Amino acid sequence: MEELGSLRLLSLFLALELLCNGTQSRAPPECPIEITPETLIVEYQNQGRPATCQPTSTSASHVRQIYWQDLQDNRTFDVIDWLPDTYNNWYSRPACFGDFQGIGTCHKKLKVIIYKTPDSVSIRPLENSSSVLEDRAFQLHCDIINVAPAQMLTVQWYRGSEAIGPGVLSLEDCQPDDVRNCDIGVVKSPVNLTSSVNVTLNRAHSGAEFRCEAQLRLGSEASHGAWSSESAPLNLTVLYKPVINTAKLPKRVPLFRGYPEELVCEAHGSPAPVIQWLYSKDKVVQVSGGNLTVFEEGIYNCSARNGVDSTVHVVEVVLKEDYLPLIAGFVAVTVVVISVIFVFLYSIYYKNTKMRRYSLKNPKLSTHNGNVATNGWDLPLPMTKLS
Ligand SMILES: *[C@@H]1O[C@H](CO)[C@@H](O)[C@H](O)[C@H]1NC(C)=O
Ligand SMILES: *[C@@H]1O[C@H](CO)[C@@H](O)[C@H](O)[C@H]1NC(C)=O
Ligand SMILES: *[C@@H]1O[C@H](CO)[C@@H](O)[C@H](O)[C@H]1NC(C)=O
Ligand SMILES: *[C@@H]1O[C@H](CO)[C@@H](O)[C@H](O)[C@H]1NC(C)=O
Ligand SMILES: *[C@@H]1O[C@H](CO)[C@@H](O)[C@H](O)[C@H]1NC(C)=O
Ligand SMILES: *[C@@H]1O[C@H](CO)[C@@H](O)[C@H](O)[C@H]1NC(C)=O
Ligand SMILES: *[C@@H]1O[C@H](CO)[C@@H](O)[C@H](O)[C@H]1NC(C)=O
Repeated sequence: MEELGSLRLLSLFLALELLCNGTQSRAPPECPIEITPETLIVEYQNQGRPATCQPTSTSASHVRQIYWQDLQDNRTFDVIDWLPDTYNNWYSRPACFGDFQGIGTCHKKLKVIIYKTPDSVSIRPLENSSSVLEDRAFQLHCDIINVAPAQMLTVQWYRGSEAIGPGVLSLEDCQPDDVRNCDIGVVKSPVNLTSSVNVTLNRAHSGAEFRCEAQLRLGSEASHGAWSSESAPLNLTVLYKPVINTAKLPKRVPLFRGYPEELVCEAHGSPAPVIQWLYSKDKVVQVSGGNLTVFEEGIYNCSARNGVDSTVHVVEVVLKEDYLPLIAGFVAVTVVVISVIFVFLYSIYYKNTKMRRYSLKNPKLSTHNGNVATNGWDLPLPMTKLS
């Protein structure tokens, strides 16, 4: 039993080894040459430093020949250093070839990046104006002129200091003389690119400043880290329809007879709205800007209009009788009437008591004379009637 198990394990190992050898033999042996640097980053129309091709130290004794070839046109160059043509040839594909005893000819490719910083980065002005409607989507375009290579360019959009996205990059004015010139992922010669971004603004964004920033990221090499350029800002005004301040202008306004009322119509909007009061022609009013002084009841409409839209606010002025003077008058009259009655009653009462006293003190007099003698200020009233 144990023997069988170990046998099985052995066959498994053998199979594994076979598999490993198989894959090893299928991969081509690495060409024993060394290119420094592995990636050549050169600016357009700049000399730059060359790339050097050398056999590795272990293969140096077997080397028969080292030469460069441009895989684009198969031209060979019997040199060790490769100097890229940074003036005209954007599509060269240099490779270093080595001819070795035993191995034969093999090669390694050199990656060349010829870059060109853009002539300009600018936001294209909006079709007609520098203002946009609130809540209406619109597109902004950033033109990056004459830049290479396109696939290493990134564009970032900003509103103020806030990043609002990379936009969508597309090739402008693509010349269809060469298919690769119209493919943003392949093109190497300088091109004009446009980054487009969709934006929707509200009134709080008015005066917003938009910028686009183009960045060339030339690989991981620190020496050629990144180059960037920013567009001049684009100022945008947000347009919106008028809004009437109803806090200062209620729907119903009471008017007391004889007291004119001032209706204050204020509105904000962009552009600044024009205010107009609408009322029937027979009304007597005084207009002062957005203020309307009314003397009569009725319907008065405040209209605020700007280039975007217009808004109307209807004000109903209702007549209220001013009862205060009436009440005051009524109270005054009542007081007077009550006072008169009181005085009248009091005077009667006063006289009555005096008469009684008088008639009690002089009871005999009354018997003599039917008329009571006056003592200067008493009214001559017949005693008989009172007692
Ligand atoms: C360059 O040589 C290769 C291999 O010999 C060949 O396949 C290719 O077509 C040649 N290219 C040109 C442009 O001659
Ligand atoms: C720009 O203005 C022209 C006329 O001056 C007009 O025909 C066109 O519709 C306007 N475009 C936009 C997007 O407003
Ligand atoms: C890019 O734009 C510039 C200016 O608009 C123009 O002169 C140039 O020919 C354009 N380049 C390409 C490749 O279309
Ligand atoms: C912007 O909107 C247009 C149409 O409304 C659409 O075709 C386009 O893809 C949008 N662009 C972006 C960058 O979202
Ligand atoms: C944009 O607005 C800023 C202030 O917000 C101002 O300094 C700048 O001059 C404006 N630019 C243009 C082109 O109007
Ligand atoms: C005021 O507005 C109301 C409602 O929109 C309308 O019926 C009325 O005719 C307007 N009055 C005037 C004087 O414009
Ligand atoms: C309208 O009335 C308001 C408040 O009474 C006042 O502040 C404003 O100056 C007036 N406007 C005009 C044009 O008379």
